[in-house]
Amino acid sequence: MHAFLKKTMSVHVQNSRMTTAKLRQMKANGEKIAMLTSYDFTLASLVDEAGIDILLVGDSASNIVCGNQYTLPITVDEMIFLTKGVVRAAQHALVVSDMPFGSYQVSEEEAVRNAIKILKESGCDAVKLEGGEEILPAIRHMVQAGVPVMGHLGLTPQSVNQFGGYGLRAKEEAEAEKLLHDAQLLDEAGCFSIVLEKIPAALAARVTKAVSCPVIGIGAGNQCDGQVLVLHDMLGMNQGFKPKFLRHFAKLADVIKGAVGDYIDAVKESSFPSEEESY
Ligand code: KIV
Repeated sequence: MHAFLKKTMSVHVQNSRMTTAKLRQMKANGEKIAMLTSYDFTLASLVDEAGIDILLVGDSASNIVCGNQYTLPITVDEMIFLTKGVVRAAQHALVVSDMPFGSYQVSEEEAVRNAIKILKESGCDAVKLEGGEEILPAIRHMVQAGVPVMGHLGLTPQSVNQFGGYGLRAKEEAEAEKLLHDAQLLDEAGCFSIVLEKIPAALAARVTKAVSCPVIGIGAGNQCDGQVLVLHDMLGMNQGFKPKFLRHFAKLADVIKGAVGDYIDAVKESSFPSEEESY
């Protein structure tokens, strides 16, 4: 290929990629941001082709991919392994990888070291971590080191044992005020975006207005700058899970079980493979 053409094409590819600056611009323009989780190349390719703005390799992989009850067991190396596949799939979306429990709480230095490891080894664009004021020093160090950071407040599943469950957060005045304060601190520390999970819609709307960075909600009403859902949940693959905030945009569990049932029948009755499907 001609060198000029190659350069033009690579510039075009780079320009079509989502960036943290474009996300800020979207907030300024009032254009909503769509984010979904992904954990593997094949599904991430489809989600990216469909035009998603942000692909989150969530530590919900611990539940969705590994079948654990909690997000706590997943490791940095496991997150890197999954994130690599999603990065290879992403032609347009910004790829964010969750920092797993224990990878940023011990010390600021360890937090920065792990964030850089995730960025370098997986090739993702940014990391996400859960918490407010208590992890602010780690966030400041990461931002200073050039790591784009997405915050996460409200229901933070890595703290499930502290909360004692997955209920609605910040219902009471004191917790709501702390959350608003935390969001302002994360914004000032340079987070390029903040996820708000399972909090009252009115509080999420206040936070969204109070911070300069884009706010992405899950179970946080529709006044946020964008929305995120777990891909397998919104595709209706995770049958037992239907909290109030979740909408099933498809019923893939039925589609998959139907197709697998048809395959089993075809094998059992020897109608698969047919002559046309044989060599
Ligand atoms: O791990 C995850 O999937 C998340 C989203 C629910 C925001 O953190």
